[in-house]
Amino acid sequence: MSSVLEFPQGFLWGTATASFQIEGGIEERGRCIWDDFCRWPGKVFEGHTGDVADDHYHLYRDDVALMAELGMKAYRFSISWPRILPEGKGEVNTKGLDFYNRLVDTLLEHEIIPFVTLYHWDLPSALQRLGGWAARDTAYRYADYAGVVVKSLGDRVHHWITHNEPWVVAFAGNLFGAHAPGWEDLPLALQVAHHLLLSHGLAIPILRDGSRGAHIGITLNLSPVHPATSKVEDVAAAERQDGFFNRWFLEPVFKGRYPEDMWAIYGYQVPRIAPEDMRIIQRPIDFLGVNYYTRAVIQHSPSKFLDLEQIYPEGEYTAMHWEVYPQGLTELLLRLTKDYAPQALYITENGCACEDELTPDGQVHDSKRVAYLRAHFAAAHQAITQGAPLKGYFVWSLMDNFEWAFGYSRRFGIVYVDYSSLKRYPKDSAKFYASVIAQNAVKS
Ligand code: FCB
Repeated sequence: MSSVLEFPQGFLWGTATASFQIEGGIEERGRCIWDDFCRWPGKVFEGHTGDVADDHYHLYRDDVALMAELGMKAYRFSISWPRILPEGKGEVNTKGLDFYNRLVDTLLEHEIIPFVTLYHWDLPSALQRLGGWAARDTAYRYADYAGVVVKSLGDRVHHWITHNEPWVVAFAGNLFGAHAPGWEDLPLALQVAHHLLLSHGLAIPILRDGSRGAHIGITLNLSPVHPATSKVEDVAAAERQDGFFNRWFLEPVFKGRYPEDMWAIYGYQVPRIAPEDMRIIQRPIDFLGVNYYTRAVIQHSPSKFLDLEQIYPEGEYTAMHWEVYPQGLTELLLRLTKDYAPQALYITENGCACEDELTPDGQVHDSKRVAYLRAHFAAAHQAITQGAPLKGYFVWSLMDNFEWAFGYSRRFGIVYVDYSSLKRYPKDSAKFYASVIAQNAVKS
């Protein structure tokens, strides 16, 4: 039986993007670690780069107009640190600030609420040369950068996200070598994670001072973790994965401490922490941003990192080989509500990569993405009815873009981008999303 699931009044529907993935305009900004990583042979699919990307730097007006046509209420984008401070510190590139000022003004003209992420992975290369996030000083440089941005945009931007997915920055970038800067070193990765968290805490009062009535949060990538079987070893392995992936960031932010079980497991490899750090990291936030794509099913596996391994049960998978598991979103939102009592939750990313094809008449019939979104909207709705303080939902992504190590080979957009002409084509999922937004409801 189908039913209509209505969302609370004022629910904020939007899409999300990130600077390096869409902007291009490389000649008008400083270099970042992803520019360097793209030039490291074998690291990024076919050596793709962010030099042009979707050329949003030049086409932003059209992109905002398209968002308005689709009825978007909010837009989550990130600021390129090296576009503001080409050397990471010191001299400000006023042209960079002008760009974001024009973007914010254009959004507001269309009554679209800007949600600004300060760091979505594009660390200035100049700072990487000084040690990057492994150097404690980078946290203070980040705080300075936050100050420059909030001074310029803080009168019009009231929603701030300090970091996007610090787990990915720390571990994909410094333990698995799959993201910039490309290292494989656990103690280094743990130190990076700590400095990211510290920088989050340092920025909070700066953002509050510079933006009256600011709502400040952090975005974490989170997944429910399920044991492959009910065997004690698998259950314990799943608990470790939860500690590694979810609790390592949730507990410092909400409880001012690292999870004890993981601290013991890491042993001599734990990060160096100054006495005041945990208090800084625990400064109150106004919302938690949740990026949800899939769950993790884990089994005990000696000889692997943390003696565990992810397995892939039978089911439906996206083009990223991520399991489609919408009920995990309900489970996750309710668990966060129960264990951490956030003041508010936003889904700051959710979406899927599909093998999209543009038809000769400019259509993309992405029925799998429509089904994915519909099921996840319904799962979010269920969490709301059970008490999760969910205030908004940002689909990843507005348009196809540079998908990190996968280059342009994976398409997550609800708008198709033809990379040779840079023309945008709304997919069926964009039309579906527009109707959900217009009705503030989804049929399940
Ligand atoms: C998230 C990232 C985002 C995008 C999606 C697919 O981990 O935050 O930039 O790449 O995955």
